[in-house]
Amino acid sequence: MISPSTAVGIDIGGTGIKGAVVDLSTGTLVTDRIKLPTPAGGSPEGILEVTAALLEKLQPGSDVPVGVTFPAVVKHGVTLSAANVSKKWIGLQAEELFEQTLKRDITFVNDADAAGYAEAQFGAAQGIEGVALMTTLGTGIGTAILHNGVLVPNAELGHLEVDGVDAETRASNAAREREDLSWKEWAKRLQTFYSRLEFYFSPDLFIVGGGVSKHHEHFLPRLSLNAPIVPAVHRNNAGILGAAALAVRTIPPLS
Ligand code: BGC
Repeated sequence: MISPSTAVGIDIGGTGIKGAVVDLSTGTLVTDRIKLPTPAGGSPEGILEVTAALLEKLQPGSDVPVGVTFPAVVKHGVTLSAANVSKKWIGLQAEELFEQTLKRDITFVNDADAAGYAEAQFGAAQGIEGVALMTTLGTGIGTAILHNGVLVPNAELGHLEVDGVDAETRASNAAREREDLSWKEWAKRLQTFYSRLEFYFSPDLFIVGGGVSKHHEHFLPRLSLNAPIVPAVHRNNAGILGAAALAVRTIPPLS
C-alpha cells in the first residue's frame, strides 16, 4: 500500500514520457521508472493518451497526488509555448485537459522548473545560499532560477539569442547528437552559453541535468566559469521527483 508521503511524478519530454511513484521524504523512486515514447509530432491528443497509459501502468491510488511536467511555458495551467512539441499546445488549457483525461486533479508545471525544484529539495541545490541556475540539456535547453531554494518559474534561458540564434539550437544535447559534435566541440558551445548566463545572473552555482549529465566528466571540466558547475544529483529523474514534490506543495501554485 502506498503511504501518504508519496506522489506520482510524470515528466513529459520531446522524446519520452517518464513517470514513477516518489517517496517524498527521501526523494527516491518507490516504483520502477516507466518510460514510453512521446508520440511523433507531440500532438495534444497523442501526449494525453500516452500520459494516461503511463498513469494506468503506475496504478497509484486515487488519493495519491500527481504532478506532471511539460516542456513549455506553463502559466495558470495554460501552455504558452511549444518548442519541441506540436504548436497546437500554444494557448491550450493544458492542465484542465490532463485533469479530464486522467480523471483527477493534477499539478502542472514546466519541466525544468520541476527539475530545479527537485535539486533544491533533494539534490545539488539543497541548502545553497544565493542563486542556483538549473539547466537541463536535452532535446531543448530548460532552465530554472532558484534563489535560496525558492523557484522563480518559467525562465526560458535556453532561448537566449546567442550569435543570432536561439541558444538551444546550437548547444542542446540534441544539437550535439544531430551534428555529431565531439565533447570538445560541444563544450565550446556550452562555454558560450554558460558564460552568457553567468554575465546576466552571476549565479552562485550552475547545475546541469538531462540524460547527458551522466557523461558530465567529458564536458563539465572543459568549462571555465566563476561559479562552480556541477551535474544534477538526480540526472534524468529530477523532473519526476520535482513534479511529485510540487504536487504536494501547500503554498500557492507556481504560476
Ligand atoms: C522549452 C522549455 C523547456 C526546455 C526543456 C525548451 O525548448 O522552451 O520550456 O523547459 O525546452 O524541455
